[in-house]
Amino acid sequence: MPIKYDSKEMVFNIQTKNTSYVIGALNGKYLLHLYYGKIINAYGRIDDNMPTGEGCVWSGADIDGFNYSTNTLPMEYPTYGSADYRTPAFHAEYEGGSAVTRFEYAGHEIFSGKRKLDNLPATYTEADGEADTLEITLCDKLTGLEIVLSYTAFTEHDAIAKNVRVKNNGRGRINIRSILSSTTYLFDKRFELVHLTGAWASERHIQRMPLINGMISVDSKRVSSSHNSSPFLALARPETTETQGEVYGLSLVYSGNFIAQAETDYQDIVRINMGINPFGFNWLLESGEEFQAPEVILTYSQNGFGGMSGIYHKLYRTCLCRGKYRDKERPVLINNWEATYYNFNEESIVNIAKKAKSLGVELMVLDDGWFGRRDSDTCSLGDWTADKRKLPNGLEGLAKKITDMGMKFGLWLEPEMVSEDSELYRKHADWCIHINGRPRTTGRNQLVLDLSRQDVCDYIVEAVSNILSSAPISYVKWDMNRNITEIGSAKLPAERQQELPHRYMLGLYNVLERITSAFPDVLFEGCSGGGGRFDAGMLYYFPQYWTSDNTDAIERLYTQHGTSMVMPASSMGAHVSAVPNHQVHRTTPLETRGNIAMAGQFGYELDLAALNDEETETVKGQIKKYKYIRETVHRGDMYRLKSPFEGNTAAWEYVYKEQVVLIYCTVQASLLGGLTCVKLVQLDETAQYRDIETGKVYDGNYLMNVGLYFSRNKDYESKLIVLERS
Ligand code: DGJ
Repeated sequence: MPIKYDSKEMVFNIQTKNTSYVIGALNGKYLLHLYYGKIINAYGRIDDNMPTGEGCVWSGADIDGFNYSTNTLPMEYPTYGSADYRTPAFHAEYEGGSAVTRFEYAGHEIFSGKRKLDNLPATYTEADGEADTLEITLCDKLTGLEIVLSYTAFTEHDAIAKNVRVKNNGRGRINIRSILSSTTYLFDKRFELVHLTGAWASERHIQRMPLINGMISVDSKRVSSSHNSSPFLALARPETTETQGEVYGLSLVYSGNFIAQAETDYQDIVRINMGINPFGFNWLLESGEEFQAPEVILTYSQNGFGGMSGIYHKLYRTCLCRGKYRDKERPVLINNWEATYYNFNEESIVNIAKKAKSLGVELMVLDDGWFGRRDSDTCSLGDWTADKRKLPNGLEGLAKKITDMGMKFGLWLEPEMVSEDSELYRKHADWCIHINGRPRTTGRNQLVLDLSRQDVCDYIVEAVSNILSSAPISYVKWDMNRNITEIGSAKLPAERQQELPHRYMLGLYNVLERITSAFPDVLFEGCSGGGGRFDAGMLYYFPQYWTSDNTDAIERLYTQHGTSMVMPASSMGAHVSAVPNHQVHRTTPLETRGNIAMAGQFGYELDLAALNDEETETVKGQIKKYKYIRETVHRGDMYRLKSPFEGNTAAWEYVYKEQVVLIYCTVQASLLGGLTCVKLVQLDETAQYRDIETGKVYDGNYLMNVGLYFSRNKDYESKLIVLERS
């Protein structure tokens, strides 16, 4: 049992293989965060180890009978209203107007396995031995409020899953203004904060900055985790590199408004908070009701950012992604979007599929434009019936032609949206998110359906289910192309309007659960104008995600590198597109476009019929190669060897069983030519590895210490090397 309880000192030591997360009840009542880091056997007495509080002069020694003040103590679940003036995890208003809460320890339970979260995505176990869970109950005596803090320690992963649920045991109604999922501390501030930022077509670029006294806050208010920010933080020592040094990671399993903060106080103690963004959040909790906050996954590693990412990759690939495709190889696909945009018909799609099939592609995906009268993005979202002008034999006719060729057929959908110019909107104008009397701002000419409404959710489930039952569809690209404005629902009472952002997420998760469990054989790929909602919450429903609308191979180096801080390669959709690239107009070699796309779930997004003979042969070779390495990319351990953010090159390594894949790319040539040396990692030093293309044999020891040299003579030149242990 990796969760140890010292009943005399009331201290809990939550252990994973290499880490300990320690909390304890001071004076039997006040739950403190005592330690998180490398595994320790025992913590001892809280009183002996916690310095008595400075600062009591100004804020009061509000912990009874002690010289302590919440002003200075690391409260494990801080509330508003005490002498703790840092940002609280919990803030609620009670009937009568008081907004003060004071939690005290009321009991705990330790059990094998992990409980499922109600209607929220979360990591899971398949057998009890895979994890142990500690649940600590805290109570506010005055109001009857009860809060349960849950901690799961995974046996095989150095990760701790935390979540919080609150139960209103009092007689009155409570208005929750803030309920964060995790508070932790660093006891010195010599750390740097790393997060992922970006915009449409440039998602998840790595940012690294020193902590300051004061607050660094990363958030989203878009009702989507968004292109611009990611629900992820890392805190690392200034000297931490990819392979060495301390790093703490926090990843929120949620896809809506979030906040992640590092608040450094005058004692140089850093409070790290993460959870649903209190901005734009409010929740009325009736007597007897419960509220469940989403899960945060904490990691600690002394092996640098690579160590942290490795933990997330494995955990998310095996204990967050679900369904048939979690482990199963994913098909190589062709998507017609950048080949045709809206301008296609059955014949042109069949022609693309024929050529694709001859090259080894396994899945033909029909993107946007197949329904209603959708010749542009101005209409038809919501009218999910095939456009007979383009598809005279309907979806079924087209899908049959594709499957008769021996390929799978996949389809694009954007079920959360409605166009103003659509039958659905003409019938149900109140089904979209809006505020009466205000203009309905459109984004990409569309409005967002109100997923806080059960009738709207039911409509989406029915519409999508009808489509998926109407034809042999084995793949869905679930898109979502705008953020929400004028947040208001025609159905919610005035006092619950501010619940809409979270209710939207709950509605969406419910819809996704119903659809994905009704169609277990369908492979779902998430998408949000590219990687706009590519977060851990979505991975629970979609084992892969379209990483970015930017398909330029060089731009993808940055986005895929940043995405890999948390997300496994198995989850990143990556396609080869035409040149000049449609987003940035850059021309890169076909070989490089292929090599960079092979770092994820591989596909093409161009008119294959327009390839010349040489290109056709290259593509054939790429597909053959990808099929040979795909298990390694999907299930292997991934290591970032060179960062495009730090230099002019990128290199990634994947290791699975006896196979090693190395992808290298030069961003820009160096004026003086020159060489880059890439040292491989995590090989068997005593083994030999054979380059399957050249036949050259290397010692593991050589590859890890001398490394492989690549020239930097040409812009955008790349190599994909496959080594096999002999
Ligand atoms: C945005 C997606 O990211 C694209 O790949 C494509 O599917 C378009 N939407 C279609 O409208």
